Amino acid sequence: MSEFVVSARKYRPQTFDTVVGQQSITNTLKNAIKNEHLAQAFLFCGSRGVGKTTTARILAKTINCFNPTTEIEACDQCDSCLSFHTGNSLNIYELDAASNNSVDDIRNLIDQVRIAPQLGSHKVYIIDEVHMLSASAFNAFLKTLEEPPKHAIFILATTEKHKIIPTILSRCQIFDFQRIRVKDIADHLGTIATKEGVSADPEALHQIALKADGALRDALSIFDQLVTFAGNTLTYKDVLENLHILDYEYYFKVIEATEKEDIPSALLILNDIYEKGFDGHQFVIGLAEHLRNILVCKDPRTASLLETPDTVKQRFIQQANEIEAQRLLRGLQVLSKTDVEYKASKNQRLLIEVALMQLCSLKQEQEKKKA
Ligand SMILES: Nc1ncnc2c1ncn2[C@@H]1O[C@H](COP(=O)(O)OP(=O)(O)OP(=O)(O)O)[C@@H](O)[C@H]1O
Ligand SMILES: [Mg+2]
Ligand SMILES: [Zn+2]
Repeated sequence: MSEFVVSARKYRPQTFDTVVGQQSITNTLKNAIKNEHLAQAFLFCGSRGVGKTTTARILAKTINCFNPTTEIEACDQCDSCLSFHTGNSLNIYELDAASNNSVDDIRNLIDQVRIAPQLGSHKVYIIDEVHMLSASAFNAFLKTLEEPPKHAIFILATTEKHKIIPTILSRCQIFDFQRIRVKDIADHLGTIATKEGVSADPEALHQIALKADGALRDALSIFDQLVTFAGNTLTYKDVLENLHILDYEYYFKVIEATEKEDIPSALLILNDIYEKGFDGHQFVIGLAEHLRNILVCKDPRTASLLETPDTVKQRFIQQANEIEAQRLLRGLQVLSKTDVEYKASKNQRLLIEVALMQLCSLKQEQEKKKA
């Protein structure tokens, strides 16, 4: 049996161009390499799983490559590139500051830094979770960071930029990594699914992307987990069941019911949701989001703000055509009030039921106002 490698590792990008959703950063780095204007200390900030370590490794490989392409990508064939691929390169040094945060750890590193590289031009030191370094370790490090030997490049990475002291910040070129957009994550999952021979619904991938909340690593882990469960076809239903996500179908149905002023149907749908074990508060928040999506689809210019697959978007546009903006806004007010009152309420289910009844009466409310 061949060894199973998790997708997050198997599909770690090897070139600047394949890093998803961080174009401005990768372009800046490529330009800096091209113009030989590379800083010696970088701070990569951003939430987990968005490509900090990946980009740091690509940078290390590319600046040491003997035959970079005109696009400033590593050739992946020279001795230096090959040593990176086999994990034998001595030009990259990764320190996890979360577990190596003492002065001694930093002293070790500083001793290392003095030694020039044997192969290639630069040694790259990646210090992950740098905010975890102790105060004394930081101090020991400052001098080296200020005047590093020519061959050394430091890449400090952190998920908590606010914990980095100003003396460090001011010595680094700072790159803020963005959370990855839902659509970009879904597209990326799509390519990986194809490579893995998994046929996956676009809606399934979209749900995974939503759940990952901007982190590509999380998206890949969820994807692996679901494929283990579902095998070679991954449907929207598989994803909902496994991740315990409320199907957006419910929201479409609730809005259909409220538009028909059909209180019984609305209450029965809510009952169904409770019976499936979903949380009422999540439903309120989800329904508000649904109204927002409809509102956004009122205008073709804002419809692009909607990050859903096209088939679903069409349905939002259809509901947008049927419901007046005024009524959507009133609906949002009702739900926002429910959201605020939810925690303090002694009877949360009743609170939601009343909100649904109010939503069912919005047409009447409007007509009374007009009269
Ligand atoms: N921008 C991206 N493009 C493509 N793949 C990505 C990207 N970001 C993360 N990944 C995937 O997630 C994995 C982990 O990414 P990486 O180690 O670069 O994250 P990180 O930002 O350093 O996270 P952490 O803060 O947890 O250290 C990669 O191996 C890759 O598969
Ligand atoms: Mg990392
Ligand atoms: Zn090379």
